[in-house]
Amino acid sequence: MSRPIEISPSVLPADFARLGEECVALQHAGCDRIHWDVMDGVFVPNLTIGPDIVASVRPHVDLHFEAHLMVVNPDELAPLYVNAGCETVMVHAETCPHLHRSLANIRDLGARSGVVLNPHTPASVLSHVLDVTDHILIMTVNPGFGGQTYIPLEDKIRTVAEMVRSSGQSIDIEVDGGINETTIRGCAAAGANVFVSGSALFRYDDRAAGVTALRSAAEESRSA
Ligand code: DX5
Ligand code: ZN
Repeated sequence: MSRPIEISPSVLPADFARLGEECVALQHAGCDRIHWDVMDGVFVPNLTIGPDIVASVRPHVDLHFEAHLMVVNPDELAPLYVNAGCETVMVHAETCPHLHRSLANIRDLGARSGVVLNPHTPASVLSHVLDVTDHILIMTVNPGFGGQTYIPLEDKIRTVAEMVRSSGQSIDIEVDGGINETTIRGCAAAGANVFVSGSALFRYDDRAAGVTALRSAAEESRSA
């Protein structure tokens, strides 16, 4: 049984002067989640969203919040984003020397545990942590900024999807970076079911039309 297709907008392109309204509009446009790109200016050369900002939006939006922690100290910051209202917290494998424990700790906090792989990081990194993993995020750009060019990694997505299938566990597979109506197709066909879109979705004046276009492209490709 394949997991449902979900559209998860990165709010980096949003008008931060009206962030709450923008997130409410994304909910009305049919998005399934809000993807919070948390950057510390050290792991990646950009500084973005603190937990207080997430917490201020939380009561206004009835969507699944996922925190993508692009930080050098994810074990320290993860609890802050759970407390801010994130149901899923994702940590980069590249920042966790004790990845199995980091993921188990997120689960102990009551959130879904997510592991993120940079484009260069092989799927084999996941081999011994699937038992404490609820969500896998495969980066299709090098993290740090929105609006970058998609890096084709369909083979890696297929490998991860096969690992998940063999594990017998229900784990979401998400892709993040350069996802639009075209690139989403190869990712969906390869086995991803959750799709982050920032610049492509925000280019639509009619956000609902954008969500529909992305979702249809993914559904068509998955059943092809
Ligand atoms: C990059 C972030 C992505 C990015 C997606 O470091 O993790 O979520 O904002 O933006 P687009 O869809 O424009 O590539
Ligand atoms: Zn992200």
